[in-house]
Amino acid sequence: MKVAVFPGSFDPVTKGHVDLIRRAARLCDRLIVAVLHNPDKQAHFTPEERIALLRKALQDVPNLAFQSFSGLLADFARAEGASFLVRGLRNEQDLSYEAQMAWANAQLMPGLETVFLQAQPALAVVSSSLVRQIAAFGGDIRPYVPACAVDEIIERFYNKHSGATKGGTDNGKK
Ligand code: PNS
Repeated sequence: MKVAVFPGSFDPVTKGHVDLIRRAARLCDRLIVAVLHNPDKQAHFTPEERIALLRKALQDVPNLAFQSFSGLLADFARAEGASFLVRGLRNEQDLSYEAQMAWANAQLMPGLETVFLQAQPALAVVSSSLVRQIAAFGGDIRPYVPACAVDEIIERFYNKHSGATKGGTDNGKK
């Protein structure tokens, strides 16, 4: 059985993540979506909240499992019996960062391969930080996040930013 891990922060999930996870799930028997829990860094959503949003957005994909992890990704992959990691590439910046990570992970767990999937061009500009900023200022996040996650994300970020003004665009708030 081919087990793979798709790791990330997912703070919050984007349409880019969802597309990549769907495509990655076709490459293996079981894909573990691994949500980083970094106790030293304050995330905007707890690991449980991030997993709940991912689950909702991907409920139709049968061979997924969702877990949080802390510490080294290579240790998590080894403990789960995974033979490869899957990461998305949006641009050249991603490539240089991801190449280092892939090398480090292969040093930490010899034989652990990293497979890269190219982001769809339409989603290559989408990131969790972009979504957080747009949501904080009342912009429309619907093009960037799964429909089932829109309300929760707006709820978390809108007006939390000190610079948010009343003059926002139609951002999907009801
Ligand atoms: O979605 P992100 O923030 O790009 O995901 C980054 C992630 C979680 C894949 C990366 O930070 C990670 O693997 N962290 C765990 C620590 C680790 O193993 N680092 C790589 C070897 S130094």
